[in-house]
Amino acid sequence: MTLSSKRIRMILGFMAFNVIGCIFLRLSLSTHNSPQKIQIPTRFWQKPSLSGTFWNQQQQRLDFIHNPNFNTILASPSELPDWLHDSKLKSDVCKPNLRVQRQIADYNLLPKHFQDFLLYSDCTSYPMLINQPTICEDAPFLLLVVKTLVPHFERRQAIRETWGQVGVVANRTVTTVFLLGSAMPEDNHPNLTDLLKYEAEMHRDILQWDYRDTFFNLTLKDILFLDWYSSFCPNSQFVLKGDDDVFVNTPQIIEFLDRLLPHKIPDLFTGDVITNAGPHRDKKLKYFVPESYFVGSYPPYAGGGGVLYSGQVALKLQEVSKKVVIYPIDDVYTGMCLKKLGLVPEKHSGFRMFDIEAKYKDNPCIYRTLMIVHSRTPQQIKHIWRWIVHPELHCQ
Ligand SMILES: *[C@@H]1O[C@H](CO)[C@@H](O)[C@H](O)[C@H]1NC(C)=O
Ligand SMILES: *[C@@H]1O[C@H](CO)[C@@H](O)[C@H](O)[C@H]1NC(C)=O
Ligand SMILES: *[C@@H]1O[C@H](CO)[C@@H](O)[C@H](O)[C@H]1NC(C)=O
Repeated sequence: MTLSSKRIRMILGFMAFNVIGCIFLRLSLSTHNSPQKIQIPTRFWQKPSLSGTFWNQQQQRLDFIHNPNFNTILASPSELPDWLHDSKLKSDVCKPNLRVQRQIADYNLLPKHFQDFLLYSDCTSYPMLINQPTICEDAPFLLLVVKTLVPHFERRQAIRETWGQVGVVANRTVTTVFLLGSAMPEDNHPNLTDLLKYEAEMHRDILQWDYRDTFFNLTLKDILFLDWYSSFCPNSQFVLKGDDDVFVNTPQIIEFLDRLLPHKIPDLFTGDVITNAGPHRDKKLKYFVPESYFVGSYPPYAGGGGVLYSGQVALKLQEVSKKVVIYPIDDVYTGMCLKKLGLVPEKHSGFRMFDIEAKYKDNPCIYRTLMIVHSRTPQQIKHIWRWIVHPELHCQ
């Protein structure tokens, strides 16, 4: 096809779109007084204004690109007009996106880690350094997924010896994987490459990707995990994803899932759900997000320290993550993805991301009823686990 006929096809497409849009609008207006409200779609055929904030504007573009009607008109990304060009569709090796320096008014005033995030936020694919391609050969009932860092060997070991034990737990199969990026020399990390390699050979539960493992790259870690999941573990029934400083009562989780199972809830997503939250605007806070990047409130989301979801939800999240612009705070991002899927995370009182009352901290029976507690040291994890599995402890 010649360039000009391509153009014509595109222009015709846009015209058809405007017409459809007008019909839609008319329909909505004419039914204004009827009890069943028809939602007026956002005006996706319009060029988004450049004064918007970065995330919101990028999301508008993605919504446009992924609009099913639009897709049939513009079949390939190369036919997209310039202002719609979305780097998520390109599969180049990752280069910093220097345009953000112009696109974000106060770029130079932002904290360094936020600038780093912005420069590389288009890069959502990195090579794996260590994989366990056959770990889910026999699809596990529950896949335990632990976000950890290279130097945290002691935490991983405590988890392996306690709540992350693989094999049959409460008559269900459990598999554990640890998610790691790289500890970069530019962040002054000592070189533990050989040690990690040894650990991976020894335990065969390490997944490592070649990117800089930092707080603002946790969403990236999540996206990489979901991609891995859909390739290497798509048949596990449930996923529990948590930090390496939480205590998980694995038998209790399995009991909970066993109770749910007869009711068949494919869209399970539960945890310590936070509602009515929004971005922090204080630059000194860890969770600071500038107004030039995002405005709006957060959808309900489950604290990233520990969440439980079904395998089906994991696959849906993987797909929808291509349609939601990356956000530096991983649990908020997952909330955004759920919202896009039309799902709502469910709060469960057994997920205690803000710990339990001090007076109960040494009460063994409390831990029997909980699902996850944050935060605990490796020594505490070992200690609490003995309470969980102790056959002679009777709680009522
Ligand atoms: C254990 O699980 C298997 C299959 O998952 C089931 O057939 C069996 O009845 C279970 N046993 C007990 C004691 O629950
Ligand atoms: C870290 O050590 C490994 C193995 O000794 C070596 O291959 C690698 O180049 C080192 N990395 C850096 C960044 O120095
Ligand atoms: C995320 O990882 C990439 C790839 O290693 C790196 O270039 C970027 O600086 C990291 N972002 C943050 C916020 O650390």
